[in-house]
Amino acid sequence: MDNYDSLYKRYLEEFNDFLQSKTDIKKFQGRDSDGFYSVMEAITYSLTNGGKRIRPVLALEFCRLCSGDHTPALDLALAIEMIHTYSLIHDDLPCMDDDDMRRGKPSNHIVYGYANALLAGDGLQALAFETIARSPLGDDKKVAAVTLLSDAAGPCGMVAGQAMDLENENKYIGLDEIKATDTLKTGKLITASALMGCIAGGADREKFLAAETFAKNIGLAFQIVDDVLDVTGDESKLGKPVGSDEISGKSTYVTILGVESAMKLARDLTTEAVGVLNIFGDDAWFLEELASKLLYREN
Ligand code: IPE
Ligand code: IPE
Ligand code: MG
Ligand code: MG
Ligand code: MG
Repeated sequence: MDNYDSLYKRYLEEFNDFLQSKTDIKKFQGRDSDGFYSVMEAITYSLTNGGKRIRPVLALEFCRLCSGDHTPALDLALAIEMIHTYSLIHDDLPCMDDDDMRRGKPSNHIVYGYANALLAGDGLQALAFETIARSPLGDDKKVAAVTLLSDAAGPCGMVAGQAMDLENENKYIGLDEIKATDTLKTGKLITASALMGCIAGGADREKFLAAETFAKNIGLAFQIVDDVLDVTGDESKLGKPVGSDEISGKSTYVTILGVESAMKLARDLTTEAVGVLNIFGDDAWFLEELASKLLYREN
């Protein structure tokens, strides 16, 4: 019987092995690469560069909860992590947050230059959808996954949130606007992760809706804690610069509410999230623990 740490570790190892098998630089995605080598290298650098992998873990766990097996979600988990990685590479560029460190290493553009970092992000986005198309899932599930992920990542999802985040710099904005920004820039992809697991696992409508409510709430809490860590975190544990939001003049839940009230809101959102998990019965223990671990994380 797994406990939280052993199951998380197992998901992480299995996901990383799967990723490795698909991202051998000379045979990227199972075909010989005659593509431009440094872009492939830039892609591999960021994709294999650590990270908590919470989005893949959510996809795998929801698939397990719905079908008893997490493995059908591996390709979808990889697709999400590709989109997330592209968003981080672009997020660190000087025209966005201008951050030099990511996951404890120099940001992609510091190592490979702006153009390759831009193209690595572009390439990852295409690879994400290719990964779904080439997966062994049935056509209905592939179409559902592509529809969901493109909506979550695109100009009505993460991209919109990132644009709003930049537009909010050096302005006073209110709670409604910050909620909309964070829901789009971070919540959408986290929600898509849970729902991709539901798609792979053949969830019924009730489970799908519960997963959606759970993930929307932990997604918003996740960005709040990220903003808190930008103020209170330890850079060596965080693996990215502390104080970046202040330097950019970002509005966040922390600038509006202060650290304590922001954390209280994150806790309330987590309680709300966990409250809808009873549809999964006792099996929901892992997600309950994950939700609370994310609240008190150090990176
Ligand atoms: C960082 O995401 C960007 C946000 C949406 C807050 P993560 O905290 O999941 O980053 P990694 O993947 O673990 O590095
Ligand atoms: C980024 O939010 C969310 C993304 C969509 C990448 P942040 O800009 O706060 O993420 P970090 O702190 O750089 O990881
Ligand atoms: Mg940002
Ligand atoms: Mg950033
Ligand atoms: Mg941040």
